[in-house]
Amino acid sequence: MKLKNVLLDIEGPLAVVTVNRPEKLNALNKETITELHQAFQSLDDDNEIRVIILTGSGQKAFVAGADIAEFADYTAREGKRLSKEGQEKLFNFVENLKTPVIAAVNGFALGGGLELAMACHFRVASHNARLGLPEVSLGVIPGYGGTQRLPQLVGKGRAMEMILTAGMIDVDRALDFGLVNHVTSIEELIEYCKKIALKIASNSPIAISYAINAVNAGFNYDQDGFQTEIKAFGACFATEDFEEGTSAFMEKRKADFPGH
Ligand code: COA
Repeated sequence: MKLKNVLLDIEGPLAVVTVNRPEKLNALNKETITELHQAFQSLDDDNEIRVIILTGSGQKAFVAGADIAEFADYTAREGKRLSKEGQEKLFNFVENLKTPVIAAVNGFALGGGLELAMACHFRVASHNARLGLPEVSLGVIPGYGGTQRLPQLVGKGRAMEMILTAGMIDVDRALDFGLVNHVTSIEELIEYCKKIALKIASNSPIAISYAINAVNAGFNYDQDGFQTEIKAFGACFATEDFEEGTSAFMEKRKADFPGH
């Protein structure tokens, strides 16, 4: 796979995906969104890959938003399509992958950048990160799921304040809000994420994919989260991973799960 704006680095069961447009603070143009879709699809299809870490190139930005230059002269119809296609191709797509994705937020995560971090399964940030949804300062609203995922993560009042002021918050605030789970130095960020990722990688990949599905179902109005959980719980009993996990416990050894 030949990618221009996305770097892939694979190390055992872990993959690091880096958005690589540092001269534009890793802003998401259409080409980058398509490449990210391709990269995530191929990693999710790869049974050896257990966890994906997503970060931005350079020390300044995770992703500074959708590429403003690209949509500045769009019509209403084009704007609607941009939002719909982006949500389908990247944001909802990442959230619903069977492989967990950790956002390593290494700098500005603004607009589409924060929306992308929020579509990941959880977030770790470096001290220099600044997070916000500045869209209303540009005369638009968040269009890649920000009006939905930010209230889910931080609560309606805090989300409203962030969206309506268009302001940025620092990592102390983001940690306090539960928007990021951990804060590290910039040098340690990826290693810190890899440590968490390796813990995840030792667990059953099938159970992990069912867990992601069940948690997400609770935030989807078309689904019943409890019913999804019941079905997924039952389905686990028919898997080799369940046999291996329970046998390993009884035999007082570490479980060795095959790929999903
Ligand atoms: N879309 C397109 N280009 C962007 C961008 C975006 N979202 N964010 C940054 N860039 C570009 C800048 O235009 C500049 O390009 P240039 O050198 O060709 O002029 C380059 O990245 C560096 O950014 P710059 O603004 O010079 O850096 P800074 O340190 O002065 O400011 C930010 C950093 C993040 C505060 C500022 O770039 C910014 O406000 N970006 C837009 C954030 C935003 O509104 N995102 C939501 C979009 S819906």
